[in-house]
Amino acid sequence: MPSARKSALTIRLSGRRILIGLGSLVSLGLVGAGMFAWLGIYNVAASVGHFYVVDRILRFGMENSVKARAPDIVPPDLTDPNLIRLGAAHYYAGCAYCHGSPDTPISPIAHSMLPPPPDLGGVERWKDQELFWLVRNGLKYTGMPAWPGPSRDEEVWAAVAFLRAMPGMNRAQYTRLALGDVEIAAQSGEEIATGEGPSDAVQACARCHGGGAKGPESDLVPVLHGQPADMMVQALRDYAAGRRPSGIMQAATSGLTEREMVQLATYYAGLTPLRPEGAPGETDSRVERLVAEGDAARNIPGCVQCHDNRALPLYPRLAGQSARYLEGRLTAWRAGLRGTSATDAIMAPIAGRLTPEEISRIAQHFARQPAAGESAVR
Ligand code: HEC
Ligand code: HEC
Ligand code: HEC
Repeated sequence: MPSARKSALTIRLSGRRILIGLGSLVSLGLVGAGMFAWLGIYNVAASVGHFYVVDRILRFGMENSVKARAPDIVPPDLTDPNLIRLGAAHYYAGCAYCHGSPDTPISPIAHSMLPPPPDLGGVERWKDQELFWLVRNGLKYTGMPAWPGPSRDEEVWAAVAFLRAMPGMNRAQYTRLALGDVEIAAQSGEEIATGEGPSDAVQACARCHGGGAKGPESDLVPVLHGQPADMMVQALRDYAAGRRPSGIMQAATSGLTEREMVQLATYYAGLTPLRPEGAPGETDSRVERLVAEGDAARNIPGCVQCHDNRALPLYPRLAGQSARYLEGRLTAWRAGLRGTSATDAIMAPIAGRLTPEEISRIAQHFARQPAAGESAVR
């Protein structure tokens, strides 16, 4: 049947033509885009801004991209004051200079970015998971940074809990949360002009860790009072170099010199340890054995070898530490969080062999123990 063969041939031919046509169009498009970029036609000046339509399209694309990627996870209790306090203290140093806060307006420099960082008073339209995704991953081509270091989900949730609490917060409530008892000293004209005044509160560790006779405001923050100085100097170096992942402590240590690290560690090491949380509970013989002797069958060494007051000053003391902090670190290691420091390599495998129930009981056990003053070695 010649006529049928002919029409099949025409269809194949026109099919090929369509393909060739489309291919040429795509190539032309690519060449056009290349010329557009090469000739420098597009104005990249942040001072010029986008056309209204371009701005709307970019915003539409951003919102859909965030909604499509937000993880399907259950958020922690975002009204928990411990999360909100830690989030506020980090926001003060890590976000407010771009986004402003109830205490400070958005800086004029940040305001000249394109797009400018928005006032975060109106984040209700985002779901918790979407806010979490935004704060953890940042936004390409906007200046909105990703959370530093590998993901520390509990830290990101602290920031989200604060973003939820911030709308409607007044200046006094905000500074109380973000600064704790730390006073921003009023400086004289001379001190401001010559840079010889007390340093900015952004630097102040006491906002989170307390100082003197006062401990941390949030039980997600470790107690440093009376910890060995060697351990703390090493921890500060590891944070600053990114070997110990924590977006919060990486931000707090990024500007410190080696000398300041030693001074700060010496200060906290010299403070009297705080009284432990609550009274000693019932003795739990299984946990006491695990802590003292470990469990040889599961390759778990006794914790006290490295963690009681006679241990080397390179190891943290656990007695009197916040239970929630101890549990948080052990759980993070167990879930696979890894740093690249020498001390992380010692502890991560041990934590991986404990069950969640053991972790919780061990944390309670140490939190209730009084920290016994000076270590014998130090
Ligand atoms: C260097 C400046 C900068 C810093 C620091 C910064 N951001 Fe942003 N952020 C931006 C910019 C710019 C945008 C706007 C992106 C856009 O409009 O597409 C943004 C957007 C956001 C958004 C989305 C808001 C919305 O409704 O579109 C959230 C939420 C956010 N930032 C939270 C934070 C938090 C929390 C921190 C601190 C951990 C932080 N940002 C630190 C610049 C910054
Ligand atoms: C915004 C709150 C915040 C500020 C400010 C802050 N820290 Fe921390 N710090 C934390 C949190 C949270 C951790 C726990 C991080 C982790 O999971 O490793 C921590 C951990 C530490 C540790 C490790 C303790 C241990 O037992 O392993 C040391 C040491 C430390 N901080 C010292 C400092 C010093 C010194 C400063 C001031 C330069 C400072 N921190 C400022 C919140 C803060
Ligand atoms: C061989 C020595 C060693 C033994 C044994 C050991 N640890 Fe550790 N542990 C370390 C080191 C080193 C660190 C510091 C890790 C880091 O932060 O990088 C640490 C840190 C910790 C921390 C975090 C404390 C803080 O202040 O941040 C906890 C909690 C902990 N260990 C619990 C335990 C428990 C529970 C056991 C017993 C099952 C145990 N460790 C046994 C060496 C040891």
